Amino acid sequence: MTTSWGILATGKIAQTFARDLALVPDAELVAVGSRRLGAAQAFASEHGGTPYGSYAELVADPEVDVVYVATPHALHLADARLALEAGKHVLCEKPLTLDTADAEEMVRLAGQHDRFLMEAMWTACHPTVRALRERLQAGEFGTPRHLHAELGFRVEAPPEDRMLNPALGASALLDMGIYPLAFAHLMLGEAAELHAVGDLSTGGIDLDVAITGRYPGGVLATMTASMTSWSSRRASIATDCGRIDADDFHHPTRVTFTPYVQAEGNWVFEPGEPVLITPDEPVVGQGYAHEIVEVGRCLREGLRESPLVPHAQTLAIMRQMDALRAQLGVRFPAS
Ligand SMILES: NC(=O)c1ccc[n+]([C@@H]2O[C@H](COP(=O)([O-])OP(=O)(O)OC[C@H]3O[C@@H](n4cnc5c(N)ncnc54)[C@H](OP(=O)(O)O)[C@@H]3O)[C@@H](O)[C@H]2O)c1
Repeated sequence: MTTSWGILATGKIAQTFARDLALVPDAELVAVGSRRLGAAQAFASEHGGTPYGSYAELVADPEVDVVYVATPHALHLADARLALEAGKHVLCEKPLTLDTADAEEMVRLAGQHDRFLMEAMWTACHPTVRALRERLQAGEFGTPRHLHAELGFRVEAPPEDRMLNPALGASALLDMGIYPLAFAHLMLGEAAELHAVGDLSTGGIDLDVAITGRYPGGVLATMTASMTSWSSRRASIATDCGRIDADDFHHPTRVTFTPYVQAEGNWVFEPGEPVLITPDEPVVGQGYAHEIVEVGRCLREGLRESPLVPHAQTLAIMRQMDALRAQLGVRFPAS
């Protein structure tokens, strides 16, 4: 059974998503909706599908099974509501909404309309992340004690752009910090406590954030997000047996485990040969294909949420971001 997709909005991630969608055999782009017909037509001529000059027309298309919401965060709830009320399943970009109350409302709406809903936390569906998580949790790399993950890039955009406009949900925490938080959650479980310090813009946006956390088993984590600097994008997990290193945990390329071994008759530990942690299946496209595959699989199985990105996980991370924003003193005009 082929899953028929409608893409709601024609911005940067919608373009990337459409390119990966074309690589998934049992998924088809059947429609795209934009605020401007011209933008939908340009998108459709590149990626396919019927172009619509409004989101309302897109969600009314009977050919569409599932709508991918790719608008700025502050608009996710309204746009997902439109799709759910039209009887469509929804894959909604991250963060699901600006705060937990709105995220709970979206989950409630999906339940009310008996539709599938998933936050587009694509890294949770990424084969390398899944392989690492399974093997770490099986104890193959020892007991984790520390995790570090950082994601940041310098944002050069006009003030009205969604990356800098508080009315659209601009926030280093919500845009980038959600990834280290999700990575730590996937690897370690739900945080017991989190603390943040940040540097805010004059307009009150968090531009740089550093987070410390305590996870189950007393595992400690440090995580950063930045809109002003080029982070390494690395992640590492130090265990009692060695260390996992991800060159880029956001778009995982090379992930290794370096065991530390004790030389015979010597108390000193030496690093052994790094072992490559490889995915069970090849990574397709830029990695977004796997969330598309996961949505199709869930729909074929009649599921209303994905075990890879369950609602409880999305809501747990939303609650964490609410608490961290409160610590930073960041408030959105829209929430
Ligand atoms: N998964 C990922 O790796 C990833 C990466 C980047 C972003 N994202 C998420 O995806 C969402 C969109 O990000 P993006 O980078 O694609 O943003 P973007 O390039 O600014 O595109 C957003 C699109 O939303 C639509 N839109 C509707 N109302 C708007 C308004 N008032 N202002 C601006 N745009 C409006 C526009 O499409 P039309 O004009 O066609 O209606 C616009 O092109 C965000 O929530 C972000 O967190 C995820």
